[in-house]
Amino acid sequence: MKMTKIEIITRSNKLDELMSALNEIGVLGMTVSQVFGCGLQKGHEEVYRGKKYDINLVPKIKLETVVCEVPVEKVLEVAQRVLRTGKFGDGKIFVYELTDAVRIRTGQRGATAIMDIPGEKRE
Ligand SMILES: Nc1ncnc2c1ncn2[C@@H]1O[C@H](COP(=O)(O)OP(=O)(O)OP(=O)(O)O)[C@@H](O)[C@H]1O
Ligand SMILES: [Mg+2]
Repeated sequence: MKMTKIEIITRSNKLDELMSALNEIGVLGMTVSQVFGCGLQKGHEEVYRGKKYDINLVPKIKLETVVCEVPVEKVLEVAQRVLRTGKFGDGKIFVYELTDAVRIRTGQRGATAIMDIPGEKRE
């Protein structure tokens, strides 16, 4: 089964809303990092804490998720619905084809490594 990694870089204050919206469509595994970045405005046109900073990097959050059963288009749709304000700095979404994955505990490979194990109890 095809696996896709979706990387969403966006405003930090949108994290909670983004996470719950993704949860609702069945996205469970994810990695979130605090990052600094800039886009086409080189960080200059974006307001950070109500003030224009004369710096090139703006704090953002990066959410990475690998999906196989949840359709990629659904993730893109939900992310845009939650994140689009129409202003500079709403963020970027990058989509990658993933070649492999390993669940270290079991040695499972590929899509099996990220899918639920039937009958297994989770906390
Ligand atoms: N080409 C790129 N490569 C890697 N990361 C990028 C790239 N463009 C943007 N990013 C990341 O995405 C974040 C948000 O970018 P941003 O939304 O400002 O992009 P943009 O192209 O300037 O769009 P907009 O015109 O809406 O501001 C950046 O802070 C950076 O972390
Ligand atoms: Mg920008």
